[in-house]
Amino acid sequence: MQIQQELKHRFSAALAGLTSSPDEAAKLLRPTQDPKFGDYQSNCAMPLKNELGKPPREIAESIVAALQVDDLCDPPEIAGPGFINLRLKDDWLAQQATAMLRDPRLGVPVAANPRTVVLDYSGPNVAKPMHVGHIRSTVIGSAIAELLRFAGHTVITDNHVGDWGTQFGMVIYGYKHFLDREAFASQPVAELLRLYRLVNNLIDYHNSVASLPQRSAAIEKATADLATAVAAEAAETEKKAKKKAQKNVAAAERKLQSTRDDLESTRQKIAAVEADKPLHDLALAHPEIAATVLQETAKLHEGDKENLALWHEVLPYCRDEIDKIYTRLDISFDHQHGESFYHEMLGGVIEQLEAAGLAQPSDGALCVFLPEFEAPMIVRKKDGAYLYATTDLATLEYRMREWSPDEILIVTDHRQAEHFEKVFIVGRKLGCGDVQLKHLPFGTVLDESGKPFKTRSGSTVGLEALLDDAVDAAFAAVCDPDRVAKIDPPLSDDEKQTISRVVGHGAIKYADLAHNRTSDYKFSLEKMVSLDGNTSAYIQYSYARMQSILSRAESSEQQVIDGDSAILIGAPAERALVIRLLQFGEAIDQSLEDYRPNVIVDYLYDVAKAYSSFYEQCPVLKADDDATLHSRLAIVTATARILRQGLKLLGIDVVPRM
Ligand code: ARG
Repeated sequence: MQIQQELKHRFSAALAGLTSSPDEAAKLLRPTQDPKFGDYQSNCAMPLKNELGKPPREIAESIVAALQVDDLCDPPEIAGPGFINLRLKDDWLAQQATAMLRDPRLGVPVAANPRTVVLDYSGPNVAKPMHVGHIRSTVIGSAIAELLRFAGHTVITDNHVGDWGTQFGMVIYGYKHFLDREAFASQPVAELLRLYRLVNNLIDYHNSVASLPQRSAAIEKATADLATAVAAEAAETEKKAKKKAQKNVAAAERKLQSTRDDLESTRQKIAAVEADKPLHDLALAHPEIAATVLQETAKLHEGDKENLALWHEVLPYCRDEIDKIYTRLDISFDHQHGESFYHEMLGGVIEQLEAAGLAQPSDGALCVFLPEFEAPMIVRKKDGAYLYATTDLATLEYRMREWSPDEILIVTDHRQAEHFEKVFIVGRKLGCGDVQLKHLPFGTVLDESGKPFKTRSGSTVGLEALLDDAVDAAFAAVCDPDRVAKIDPPLSDDEKQTISRVVGHGAIKYADLAHNRTSDYKFSLEKMVSLDGNTSAYIQYSYARMQSILSRAESSEQQVIDGDSAILIGAPAERALVIRLLQFGEAIDQSLEDYRPNVIVDYLYDVAKAYSSFYEQCPVLKADDDATLHSRLAIVTATARILRQGLKLLGIDVVPRM
């Protein structure tokens, strides 16, 4: 049973005779932060003031008179201007908690209106290093998939792998000109990555050199703008206008500074290549590399035999590489239709756009102009190449045709927000029906200094190294000799390795999920694996302590569940913990309202903290009597189950001892 939902029903029934929209008013019910106000508080009386033309306190009195909750609550209290405070009855809580302990779904009801949801996440661009943003998409996406599934929805996960982009033109170019055959035979992935980086560097060099005059001109212009702004400021005498002019000067100064920085970093790039003689010679020997790479990509897309064969040769290596990450993180997908999968359908998309009168030629390219946006959506370039947007339109159509979902969710970083807004608008115009289309953006992962986080480079793929680092950090934090010496019987080496892996991988996922999806966050391995604070290690450790109590009681979760002990409520810490446990379903609902796994993280952290107070205040093994002992063991068991299930929804494991 979901407490909040049940109370809302009761409120709705009580409000039916009072207002024209009882369900709306009944929604204004929240768990309280302070037990002084009871366990739940409704503030539905205040907004009804106008409709009913009465003071809210009086309205609250009428609501309370009609409200039937005496089976679950003490008599409601009216506070302040008209808040209605509800305190749940201890007996009722105890009964619910006992039922929850034995319920495989832990008291979480199955969704009343199950939906079919297509969930698109991860989507790395293979053949180039997978970056930390793709981990974020992977971790957030798979948590949302698990949450939706647990709530009873049908979820179809689809990994829109970037396997058809310009990076293949680069790798093909590299393969044709710079391949080290021996290296490729022994370490194909590392060699492909080297080729990608090399070609990318050379292109970057030429682009930098070519853009120097333009960048210098930009400096001249920014300098002139600044001079104009300064002169305007000097000419102002009126106080208000002067302030405004000063602001313009400050803005112009900033603009000049960032233009300078840009020029400086371009110069540095050029200098770095020039300092590396062999690289510089290579750059001079390949002056047309940027254009040729585009041609190689275009040839691949046109079905050129040689390029297609190369693509088929290298793709499996690239996919194996990302699969390694998925295996380590225990991530799977129902489908992995990459961009290449849609290639044959793109011509059809163009035909549809033209038939619907949506696409217009512009400078040789084909564009969809949307009044909502300044820049059009380009669907075919001058050279005939299709774009990311074209593929996404084909993807939308395919998903609708194949799976007829109620909802399609796409998880990528926030920079793609406008792209998806456009795709969704055009998709609707092409008749994709009343499916809910949502882009779920997330913020940037930053390093300790606040810059976008970069994985350490080298021959291995950055992300594998990152996971290794996390496992090492977990080992240092959790398996240090002083700490583990206290664990009896001693941990075996195998156990220590498992613990480090579970804690290390868990830390990476938890840190990604703990932050509000849309915020940026700073990546700090040390903080992430700490046993204190809002970390997965803290929760995993609480779980292990619960298992240790059960084993000292010579019992196991299963034995407690199979037994007939009832949960009793005595101490306040016991009561607070039990209420938190009964709110699991509410946390899931709330997190699915806007697809925010951090709600579950906060919930689990709260449960672990409530458990810690319970543990301090309520002796378990030394309880006064048998009934209390059994009740407390049952509470420990229920808490352990909630933490394990909650972490599982986030893709995080537990260990019985650590
Ligand atoms: N490959 C894309 C990227 O790295 C993400 C794909 C997201 N899904 C989609 N349907 N466009 O940014």
